[in-house]
Amino acid sequence: RRGNYATATATDITVFQDIIGHNHVLTDPSELEGNNIDWIKTVRGQSSILLKPKTTAEVSKILKYCNDQKLAICPQGGNTGLVGGSVPVFDEIILSTQRMNDFISVDPVAGCVAVCQAGCVLEALSQELNKHDIIVPLDLGAKGSCHIGGNISTNAGGLRLLRYGSLRGSVLGVEAVLADGTILDCLSTLRKDNTGYDIKQLMIGSEGTLGFVTAVSILCPQKPKSLNLAFLGVDTFEGLLHVLRKAKQDLGEILSAVEFLDSACMGLVKTHLNLTNPIGEHEFYMLIETSGSNTQHDEEKLSSFLDEIMTSQTVSDGTIATDLNKMQAIWGLRERQAEALLHEGYNFKYDVSLPTHVMYDMVLDTRRHLEGLCTSVVGYGHLGKCDGNLHLNVTCPQYNQTIASAVEPFVYEWTAKHKGSISAEHGLGFKKRNYISYSKSNESITMMKKIKKLFDPNGILNPYKTLPDT
Ligand code: FAD
Ligand code: MLT
Ligand code: ZN
Repeated sequence: RRGNYATATATDITVFQDIIGHNHVLTDPSELEGNNIDWIKTVRGQSSILLKPKTTAEVSKILKYCNDQKLAICPQGGNTGLVGGSVPVFDEIILSTQRMNDFISVDPVAGCVAVCQAGCVLEALSQELNKHDIIVPLDLGAKGSCHIGGNISTNAGGLRLLRYGSLRGSVLGVEAVLADGTILDCLSTLRKDNTGYDIKQLMIGSEGTLGFVTAVSILCPQKPKSLNLAFLGVDTFEGLLHVLRKAKQDLGEILSAVEFLDSACMGLVKTHLNLTNPIGEHEFYMLIETSGSNTQHDEEKLSSFLDEIMTSQTVSDGTIATDLNKMQAIWGLRERQAEALLHEGYNFKYDVSLPTHVMYDMVLDTRRHLEGLCTSVVGYGHLGKCDGNLHLNVTCPQYNQTIASAVEPFVYEWTAKHKGSISAEHGLGFKKRNYISYSKSNESITMMKKIKKLFDPNGILNPYKTLPDT
């Protein structure tokens, strides 16, 4: 049900035009079409106003006005979120970071802290940092569209988490505007700062419900001098876990990513995207990336690791890529899974973290549970230091209530039973907020509601998202 918010009027539009200029207030429905619907085309809002501020001061004026008028807001970055958090549910005004894309600075001495506006596209930021021989400690398939502010608001995980950890560790500072227009300047560039509560952590992963992120500072690692990628075929999940353990033992400090996909996933990218599998057919495929500072050292380590796993016959087939084109082609097999799945029709998407030894059982159990109902049940994801991050996807030609009722809460109960989290990286957004209690205690949820009330007493920031209805 729509909350008790005001409906925007012509007067409100004039006020917005005065703040950011006529051209940056969009009200033509056809221009708002893409901003009202999510990336996987499963949720659609009905906003009739899209605002594109350029500066923090403009965001502050907009939010102060909306708070006074009780107008609800939906913060939006690149709109690549996968849980329906980035699109309005009813007629919330969309507040976009699209024009807030200034790169602010790189620390010239340490050369490792980048400060930028929240609307910088991740890939563009990466290219900019490349000039300084540093990298963003985050990489994901949506890099060409997602904004760094959106990444921080979802605490995105991605492909480099194994090596560089979560954004909670690498984001040094955040500037955000609160619902009443207050500019919260936590844009520190210090790594060490134990002065009181760390409020920026509340902004990280809060999905636009506590504040609007306007700028960020990030600790950026040196660009590796040597990069290698192995693509392996494995025939059992047990074998895959053995390779993972061995990779951690033998590749240690140069290991930068371990990803997997199952044979059904390989089928999807071949059929729908025309990609080529560079090795033979197997039940599972693994990508193992190393990055370091000495080519000879890294290659020696990788080849001795590969010799051992081949000799032990855990892996019978594989290929190594050291040139950029081949690496990109192999990464495409993994990074483009979400895109390939869209060609199947409707996607029920799950993003869970589970103890690695049970993670693939979830795919097998879900397949059995849904037998004859859906087109496919596939699994891929990120393997890491401790828990595994499984992307379980169920597809069917179009939305189907019978499948929806069969798959939820089945997946959430399965996750809770194995002490996992129902959202490893995508967040709760609109779609998963009412299942939060599968992963959080009542006491934690009550505390979250109190924090929300403190930051946003009128509840104008991204209503119907993250927190449960009751
Ligand atoms: P949006 O989708 O626009 O917004 C996401 C949420 O953040 C919404 O709740 C929105 O209201 C809020 N928000 C956005 N900007 C702001 C702001 N400035 N201030 C406050 N709130 C804001 N995620 C992973 O974690 N790991 C992956 O590997 C990964 N891979 C992906 C691959 C593909 C192909 C796609 C389509 C998505 C993937 N994602 C992944 C999902 C992921 O959440 C996003 O891609 C990304 O972090 C969202 O950034 P965005 O700018 O698109 O944010
Ligand atoms: C990924 O790792 O590819 C993403 O999180 C997107 C997805 O779940 O499909
Ligand atoms: Zn992911």
